[in-house]
Amino acid sequence: MGTIGLHNFIAQQFSMPEGMCGRAAGAVMGLINHLPNRRAIERLGIGERDDVLEIGFGPGWALKKMARLAHSGTVTGVDRSPTMFRQAQIRNRAAIQDGKLKLIQGTFERLPVETASMDKVLAVNVIYFCSPTGTALAEAHRVLRPGGTMSIYATDCSSMKRLQFVGPETRQTFDLKGLEDFLGKSAFASDHIDIQMIWLPFGFRGLVARLCKR
Ligand SMILES: C[S@@+](CC[C@H](N)C(=O)[O-])C[C@H]1O[C@@H](n2cnc3c(N)ncnc32)[C@H](O)[C@@H]1O
Repeated sequence: MGTIGLHNFIAQQFSMPEGMCGRAAGAVMGLINHLPNRRAIERLGIGERDDVLEIGFGPGWALKKMARLAHSGTVTGVDRSPTMFRQAQIRNRAAIQDGKLKLIQGTFERLPVETASMDKVLAVNVIYFCSPTGTALAEAHRVLRPGGTMSIYATDCSSMKRLQFVGPETRQTFDLKGLEDFLGKSAFASDHIDIQMIWLPFGFRGLVARLCKR
C-alpha cells in the first residue's frame, strides 16, 4: 500500500471504523478527540434534566461524560458503525443498564429520533462526512426542541492538510469562513450561530460552533 493508499485507508477508518483496524481507530479517537470533545461539550451547557443526542459517537467517551452531566435526563447516541457501537456499548454498560443511555445504529441523514425531542445535540469530528446539501443538519434541527442547542467541532482545514487523513469519504473540510457559510445556509440559517477558534496541541487548530434553535 502506497502513502496515499495508507492515508485513504486511515481516513476510511475514521469515517466508517470496521473490524480490527476500526477498533484501533476507536482507541486513537479516544486520545486525539479528548480535547475537542471537552470544548464542544462545554459549549452545550448541559443541564441535569437535559435530553442529549450525539451523532457519530465513535468509541463513546463523550456519551459517558454527557451521561454524568445529564444524570436526570437521557442520552442517545447514533452511529452507523457496528464496531463503534460495540466499543461504546462496553464503555457505557452501566448507564445503558440503568436506562439512561441508548445507542442506536443508524445514519445521521435520517436520524431515528423523534421530532423536537432533544435539548442538546453534539457532533464532534463528523461534519466532514455529512452531505454538502445539509441533510444531516436539517435532521439535527428537526430533533432539537425550540431553545435547544447544537455544538459542532471540526478541525480547521489547514490542520487537516497537515494530518493528511483526508480521503474519498471526506466530503468537505472547513476553515472559519467556510463553516460560517455552510451553517449560514443550513436549516439553522435563521438561528443564532457562534463559532470559536480553538488551539490544540502541536499548533493544530479547531472550530467549535454553537447553534441555538429559536
Ligand atoms: C472521526 S469519528 C468521530 C467519533 C467521535 N465523535 C469522537 O469524537 O471521537 C466519526 C464517526 O462518525 C460516524 N459516521 C460517519 N458518517 C456517518 C453517518 N453518515 N451516519 C452515522 N454515523 C456516521 C463513524 O462511524 C465514526 O464513528
